[in-house]
Amino acid sequence: MCGIVAYLGKKSAQPILIEGLKRLEYRGYDSAGVALLGGGAIRIKKTSGRISALEGILDEPAGGESLGIGHTRWATHGEPNTVNAHPHLDYTGKIAVVHNGIIENYTTLKTWLQNEGVEFASETDTEVIANLIGYFYAEGNQDREAKKSYGQSYGLLTENKFEWAVQRALQKIHGTFGLAIVCCDFPDALIGAKKGSPLILGVGDNEYILASDAAAIVEHTTQAIYLADNEMVTVRADGFGTKTIDNVTVAKDLKQIEFSLEQIELGGFQHHMLKEIFEQPKALSTCMGGRIDRRNNRIKLGGIASYLRELTRTKRLILTACGTAFHASLVGEFLFELLARIPTETEYASEFRYRNPIIEDGTVVVSISQSGETADTLAAVEQAKERGATVLGIVNVVGSSVARATDAGIYLHVGPEIGVASTKAFTAQVAVLTMLAIELGRRRHIGSNEADKHINEFSQIPDKISRILQQSDHIKEIASANIDRDNWLFLGRGFNYPVALEGALKLKEISYIHAEGLPAAEMKHGPIALIVDGMPVVFIATSGPQYDKILGNIAEVRARGGKIIVVATEGDKHIKSALGRTDHLITIPDAPELLQPMLTVVPLQLLAYHAAVLRGHDVDKPRNLAKSVTVE
Ligand code: M6R
Repeated sequence: MCGIVAYLGKKSAQPILIEGLKRLEYRGYDSAGVALLGGGAIRIKKTSGRISALEGILDEPAGGESLGIGHTRWATHGEPNTVNAHPHLDYTGKIAVVHNGIIENYTTLKTWLQNEGVEFASETDTEVIANLIGYFYAEGNQDREAKKSYGQSYGLLTENKFEWAVQRALQKIHGTFGLAIVCCDFPDALIGAKKGSPLILGVGDNEYILASDAAAIVEHTTQAIYLADNEMVTVRADGFGTKTIDNVTVAKDLKQIEFSLEQIELGGFQHHMLKEIFEQPKALSTCMGGRIDRRNNRIKLGGIASYLRELTRTKRLILTACGTAFHASLVGEFLFELLARIPTETEYASEFRYRNPIIEDGTVVVSISQSGETADTLAAVEQAKERGATVLGIVNVVGSSVARATDAGIYLHVGPEIGVASTKAFTAQVAVLTMLAIELGRRRHIGSNEADKHINEFSQIPDKISRILQQSDHIKEIASANIDRDNWLFLGRGFNYPVALEGALKLKEISYIHAEGLPAAEMKHGPIALIVDGMPVVFIATSGPQYDKILGNIAEVRARGGKIIVVATEGDKHIKSALGRTDHLITIPDAPELLQPMLTVVPLQLLAYHAAVLRGHDVDKPRNLAKSVTVE
């Protein structure tokens, strides 16, 4: 994914665009650029690398440039060099475009344009959009195209030649786009358009900020309109108008942006990831707040209230997600099966959508996504809907694509997650799945007394996370002692098996250390061959029915020279005797096994964080990654 931002107002656009791009940099950081309008010309500055590199090549803001567009890129088509960086100028030099999304038919359109004599400079799909708009805008082409398509002359169709050219171009495009477009002949007009990629227009006092994400807007205004797919907005100094790309006027309500600037700033932490790890007690309290009625020990999930009956009767649940959200879903699978006795399957969204899934009457699909913009997850939602399933969402970003595409859903309410490595979203996803499973369990299987007991224990989770966070320095020492090791294993059983997967993913994605997560018992079926002297093996050996078995697995690794890092329960009297002199112990407060994932994952998040910092990596912007993956 990429980040786009545009400004039209009375101030100098350049510093506002740069500030906005910094707030969107988590969306992509391969290259960056801005286009500024002034004096009837477009001035473009772009470069490979990060926003800091762009700042290095910028000129002093020029007077009168109060309209501009900016982009931070996560490369798809074409390597991340300066030529491929956005903004892209059309072949006439009049139109500049920034784009988030993918144009699927770009080769066909490119060939067609090339046959019409249009020349291309870059390898990107986005340049096709710029050139297509330029083509329809160019003298002589509008009337010919208008007559061909509508049997009328261009002049009868619309007054605004720029807007018309954008519409014509977008009607020809297949794929996804969030776009900001400017034209040097219209120095007071900014056009935005959306399909499949988010786009929000912040409406301030005589100024407008168009962006992929509210993070780039909140500093200026908290009032915004959220464009829907196939909609466009034309912004001028004195107001804005919204239409479909087929030129049908649509009315949009102003909405309040729900989060504050404070939530997206570092607030004294070195990285967003660390801030978000430490936010977990508060984030989970907010996620639970209003949903747990402590007086009556009931769980209220307002967002899906009208689907509870159907869920209670469902014959089968399918949970679908990617990455960390997939690991949270696996915990959910265990919870639904244990507490509600609902047969549940967890599917990678990327696999589910392509494998002709069986969706019978009575199957409910639940899609889990922090961003709500993951392309595979969204496609899985569409697939399930086409097959007639009720589809529910568990999503963090309010108004995101998954949130809108699903029949109903539950928001995480943990505030923006900026670090590319997902942390507080995982614990909140598990918390929401836990609440849903307890409620369905109470209605189907476990009865009220047991449900009450689980709610009591569940309510203590935020405080218990706070206690684990106090071990951050100790965990840093463990990371430091093993920092030169390039291969790690993460092993857990039962509810802690998905946590082992998550611990390995965290370490891989930010510290670039190879790690595998496995069910501990599987180790002896192959991976045990990997163990060499000093190889770090992280065990989750907390209290629970499989505790003795996992002690056995620890002994097997020790016997082969592996270095044990164990997450155990406070007060465990046996664990020390299972460890050698150089092994490491991290403890978590006691909790029932089914609630442990929200606790056991926290030391693993910290371990990955400290390892990445010690290795000198940019934790919030790991190489090759972006916060949400909007390509399939
Ligand atoms: O926004 P989503 O929850 O749909 O994202 C899914 C994955 O791309 C995401 O969890 C990814 O694996 C994270 N980088 C993991 O930390």
